[in-house]
Amino acid sequence: MDQFWQQQKPFARRTERVIVVAAIDHWKTCMHDDDKPAGPAMPYRPRDLSDEQVHWDLGESQSYGQYLNLEKILSAQQPASYEHDEMLFIIIHQASELWMKLCLHELTAALDHIRRDDLGPSFKMLTRVARIQAQLVQSWDVLATLTPADYSAFRNHLGRASGFQSVQYRLLEFIIGNKTAQMIEVHKREADAYATLQRALHSPSLYDECLRLLSRRGFEIPDDYLDRDWSQPYRPSKQVAAAWLAVYHSVDDHWDLYELAEKLVDLDQKFQLWRFSHMKTVERIIGYKRGTGGTGGVSYLAKALELYFFPELWTIRTAM
Ligand code: HEM
Repeated sequence: MDQFWQQQKPFARRTERVIVVAAIDHWKTCMHDDDKPAGPAMPYRPRDLSDEQVHWDLGESQSYGQYLNLEKILSAQQPASYEHDEMLFIIIHQASELWMKLCLHELTAALDHIRRDDLGPSFKMLTRVARIQAQLVQSWDVLATLTPADYSAFRNHLGRASGFQSVQYRLLEFIIGNKTAQMIEVHKREADAYATLQRALHSPSLYDECLRLLSRRGFEIPDDYLDRDWSQPYRPSKQVAAAWLAVYHSVDDHWDLYELAEKLVDLDQKFQLWRFSHMKTVERIIGYKRGTGGTGGVSYLAKALELYFFPELWTIRTAM
């Protein structure tokens, strides 16, 4: 211990020694005599509620659980097997779907604001979406505790169920700007979901609305980018790239568009991070087996790594 103190700078030696000695003194006073040889004891005091005005009787008011509909949410985990680890698998999917629901809520509102040239609120919403995405990316860490053997033990109980059939995920893709009409075929037997996806497929995406905004601000956007068959995949355009580049070249004149562009890049990047982490976690858990949804598995997920929602916002960076 003395050798440790010798190695410290003189100031650190003095102040840190004072702090450590004071902390040890405090622990000593908190200890019972009998405990002393066993090391410092934690001070323990039961929580004092005598000065709180807790509503022990809720009267006519709804409770926390009722407000949040917890009975429904917490009884929605119905494992198909008796395997311990299936609960993790179910909860991580359900939690992700809840976060996706909030992303959709925020993104559709952000899109509305952009359509009305009201960018301020849309920035707040896009920032929130980025934070949720960070949370979603983080959740792969929890799932990575599932080993191949853990997953194999209940995989057969899933049948053909796969994230490939996530309505909300596909809606997110369509609303942000990645349109592949064929993807909705898998939802044919769910009339409501199919109709919702059809609507999103045939409506301008977040990116399409941003290009319309650029046009309203006087940037040259080709006519067939302002009105087209929205169900078709987006094709990168040199004029669109030139418009974004002009924004980046005079940020003082177009600060809000510059800020919007950066929020979009954030959204795109975090989506890519999610896709990459999904793919690597899947590789770790099932190797190169086929997916329950019928695709080649990792080979299918790898194809999505090349997707960009806002391609020009990436290509122009080389020219800056
Ligand atoms: C052990 C865990 C997981 C495995 C082994 C797994 C595996 C796969 C595979 C192989 C696919 C390709 C489609 C297929 O053939 O099934 C896929 C797609 C997908 N998974 Fe997962 N996944 C897991 C966890 C999750 C979680 C937690 C989510 C969160 C919602 C999720 C969401 C998705 C989505 C949205 C797709 C479609 C991606 C696209 O079409 O681009 N997966 N998954």
